[in-house]
Formats: sequence, structure tokens, C-alpha cells
Amino acid sequence: MSEAIRFFYRGTLRSVQETSPNRTLLQYLREDEHCHGTKEGCAEGDCGACTVVLGEAVDGHLQMRAVNACIQFLPSVHGKAVFSVEDLAIHPDPAKDQTHLQLHPVQQALVEQHGSQCGFCTPGFVMSLWDLYLRHQAAQTRPSREQIQDALSGNLCRCTGYQPIIAAAVQMFELPAADFPHQAWKEKLQQLIQQLQAERQSELAPRYHSQGQDFYWPQTLAQALQLRSQLPQATVLAGGTDVGLWVTKQMRSLDCLLYLGQVAELRQIQHTADTLVIGAAVNLNDAYLALCQHYPTELTEMWQRFASTPVRNAGTLGGNLANGSPIGDSMPWLIALGAKIHLQSLSGQRVLNLEDFYLAYQKKDMAADELLTYIEVPLPRPNWQFRTYKLAKRYDQDISAVCAAFALEIVDGVIQQARIAFGGMAATPRRASLAEQALQGQIWDENHVALACAALAQDYSPLSDMRASSHYRITTAQNLLRRFWLETRRDAALPSSALNVFAYARLQAHSKNASIPGESA
Ligand code: FAD
Ligand code: FES
Ligand code: FES
Repeated sequence: MSEAIRFFYRGTLRSVQETSPNRTLLQYLREDEHCHGTKEGCAEGDCGACTVVLGEAVDGHLQMRAVNACIQFLPSVHGKAVFSVEDLAIHPDPAKDQTHLQLHPVQQALVEQHGSQCGFCTPGFVMSLWDLYLRHQAAQTRPSREQIQDALSGNLCRCTGYQPIIAAAVQMFELPAADFPHQAWKEKLQQLIQQLQAERQSELAPRYHSQGQDFYWPQTLAQALQLRSQLPQATVLAGGTDVGLWVTKQMRSLDCLLYLGQVAELRQIQHTADTLVIGAAVNLNDAYLALCQHYPTELTEMWQRFASTPVRNAGTLGGNLANGSPIGDSMPWLIALGAKIHLQSLSGQRVLNLEDFYLAYQKKDMAADELLTYIEVPLPRPNWQFRTYKLAKRYDQDISAVCAAFALEIVDGVIQQARIAFGGMAATPRRASLAEQALQGQIWDENHVALACAALAQDYSPLSDMRASSHYRITTAQNLLRRFWLETRRDAALPSSALNVFAYARLQAHSKNASIPGESA
């Protein structure tokens, strides 16, 4: 039996059948709802013109998140609420006057600050700013300039030079506040989810079927594993920030999708005594927020530089690892830390060192009936020094040319264990074993760093491509090892640690609805 795709839009419940599960939310908004405020610029999550906000009842609270509608498949908003730019301006008194629209403070501030010229990007900026507004208005706080920049990291504008938009992000809080009925929406969504669950008579995973294609919404890990074993040909879908482009850019047709976004067990973060266990379907923002509580100095910049806020709101840590791009940013530092992954199928569970998961380019040690379910990350250990560095042309929203990660256990100045991993240097993320050998058992000093740099050049023979030449990659990899030495030598000044802790405070505030009071924008 096929369920309809049900979600709230423009305040009412929509029920969609007869459309391909490969249809994107953006296509639905523009072509089916004829709501053309949400634009298409790139159809690949890069420009932000398609930004919308999704509301979801999660663990008893209303979660509002800006995402890119262009790479969200429509069935993935099942059970959620979709808000687009058409939802913001209101008719103050619909009975009296349908012509007079009262702009939302976000929109009013953009007008007053001349934050829009051609206007093509503007609806996307409005929705990213609205997401920021909701966070801070609910917490009665004000975003810092960095938090504003983080919130807008997924929006491109070719006309305004961004300054007026940032000025509008500050001013929007000075205008008469526009309230948002969080409680009412939370209750509406909770009722919808209960109604969907009540209608399901069978124990089987809910399914959407149309035009010969299937989209499954397993609710539990057991249902997901059952489907995985029955449908090994199905495409596993988590946040869709890689898979979405297979349809929008590669024009592929994905006839059977197994969506993990509703599997409660995979959306949890647990602590053990010495590890953080992150469910594969935890979104990147939540995963990095939890990780940065333990590694503020080491991971804050990586968090900030991973894609953009809307991509991190949709994409998952499990998807990053399972996608296994040679330039994926989470893998090098997880390998350096000694992270493990859980692979599960109906026949059982395997626990693998992450470095052993990648066999060759786009070839992983994962059977057709397995899912990547959990990522086990070691918590900070005494005597360990750890850093990760991302080298890319742009600070925000850019793919790494080189991604480095170093973890050394140093006791009385002598290196007990050396773990070094890189992305962008080989067909898979992988360790630099010769450089590690040059350091193992040696004193952590400039001479041994020089020997390890020489060995590093033997560890990899990187490609030259549009992001970097082979020579650039080797040279910068060696320089990043030198940087690690300078930051962690005994008499190291206080270079990045203070800054990163500060950056972490900013990011935590952004994600935790608070900001640094009194900090000027
Ligand atoms: P999906 O797209 O849903 O899936 C990715 C792959 O993993 C698919 O093959 C899917 O079948 C498989 N999969 C997903 N979950 C599981 C599971 N639990 N078990 C088995 N298989 C699974 N990546 C970076 O590393 N750094 C960046 O800076 C970065 N910037 C980006 C910018 C943009 C604009 C976009 C669109 C993407 C960017 N990415 C970047 C890539 C992508 O966002 C990440 O790889 C993301 O973590 C993928 O997660 P997802 O949940 O969206 O995966
Ligand atoms: Fe560019 Fe969606 S259209 S991010
Ligand atoms: Fe033209 Fe931003 S106003 S792209």
C-alpha cells in the first residue's frame, strides 16, 4: 500500500500522490504550487537561491532548519512543515484589506538597507535570515557578525556585495518583532506524525510508490535493515546532499530509495566512558556541535568550513563517510583519532576501523545488505595532541584541495603513537604510514618533523586537478605538518586555541539559540 506524501505548506496539510519520488521540493513548489518566490540558481546546493525552512517535531520540540529545496526529494519532507518566502509577509487584516501586505522584519530590513538589487538571490537570503531570526528571537539574543556570516554561508549574491544584507541582519532585530507560533506548529506536527503512525496497520516500513518508483520511510533500524536485505539495489538516502545531485546534475533516475531520515535510532548521539557514538543519520550541524564540546580547539574551524549551514542542516555524518569521497572532510580527522564505524545487516554487526573501510576509489568494505549505523569517536585522551586543517580556495562552501589531520601521543617529549591522515592526496582518505614511522618513538622536535616531512612526500603521489597541482598538495601537506609542530611544541604560543575556542563559542551560540551578549556585529 502506498502512502501519500503529507506535509504542511502555506499553513495547510498537503497530500501528494502521482509524482516521481525523484521530484525535488523546489520543483514541487514552483511547478505544482506555482509559488515562484523560491528560485533555482544552481540545482546543486551551492547558491542558496532555493533556501526554504523545514519545521519538524523532534524529541518534543520544534526544530526549524534552513535547507536547500533543490536537493531535497519531496518525499523526504513527509511529516514536516515547509516554509517558503511566501509565508513571511502577512495581510494584517485579511478581512479588510487583501492588498496591503505587511513585510516581515527580515524583509523590511532588507528593503531599508538596500539589501536587494536584481532580487534573484533575495528570497533565499530572506529564508536564511528568517532561520537566524527565529533562533535568536526565541532565545532573546542577538547574533554576532560571525553568526550572521555562518547563517548566510550558503547564499551567494552577485549584486550587493553582501554588506547591506549583513546590515539588514543586524537591523531586523531592531524593528517591531514578528512573532512565530512555535508551540502551535509543534503541536500540529506532532498530531500529523501520530496520525500517520495510527493509519499504519502493518509492521512494514511505510512506502510511497508512484510511476514505477519506490520511496521507503523506515521508522526503525529493524525496518531499515529488513529493507536493506530485501532491496540491495535500493539507493540509501540520508540528507541527500550527495545523492540529490545524482538526479539534479547527473540526470539519473533513482527508482528505489531507502530514506534513513526517519529512523529514530540513527538520529541519536550517545556517550560512553571514552567515546561519542553518533548515529549515522545525525545531521552534520548536530554532530559537529556535539564533537566540538570535546574538541573546541581542534574541530571548530572544520565545522564552520564544512559546506554551508543549509547543507550541514540536511547532510549527515554517516552520509559523508559512506559517500567516501577522496576529499571528504570528516574522514581524515576521524581516521587520525582512531574512529570506528558500525556496519549492520540482518545477519549481524561488524565494527571496523574507519581507515579499513575504504578499499579503493569509491570502493568500501560494505556489503550490499549492510548499513553504516554508528560512528564511534574517541573522546580526548591525556598526552594526545590533535589538529585538522582544511585547505580550499574559499573559506566557506568549498571543497578541500588538501585536508590534513594529525594525532600524536607524546609522553615526556617522546612520541608514543603517531596517526596522520590526509584527504585529497590519494584515491581514498588514508594514513601517511612513512611519515608516522619517521616520528614513532622519536622526540617531538624540529629535526624529526623535517624527517617526517621528507617521508610524507613518499607516502602520496597526489593528482593535479583544477583545485591544486600535485606539487602544491605535497608542499602544503608538509607545511601543515610544520604548522602542527609549531602549534603543539612545548613552548607554543597561544595561536589557534584561543581563537578556536572563541569560534566555538560563536558556533555553539548559533546552534544553541544564544549569542555572545554585547559583542558588536
Ligand atoms: P547522502 O547524499 O544522503 O548519501 C551519500 C552517500 O552515502 C550515498 O551513496 C548514500 O547511498 C550513502 N549513505 C548515506 N547514509 C548511509 C548509511 N547510513 N549507510 C550506508 N550508506 C549510506 N562534503 C565535505 O566533506 N566537505 C564539504 O565542504 C562539502 N561541501 C558541500 C557543499 C555542497 C553545496 C554540497 C551539495 C555538498 C557538499 N559536501 C561536502 C558533500 C556532502 O554534503 C557530504 O558528503 C554529506 O555529509 C553527505 O551526507 P548526506 O546525508 O547528504 O548523504
Ligand atoms: Fe542553488 Fe539550490 S538552486 S542551492
Ligand atoms: Fe542580485 Fe543578489 S540582488 S544576486
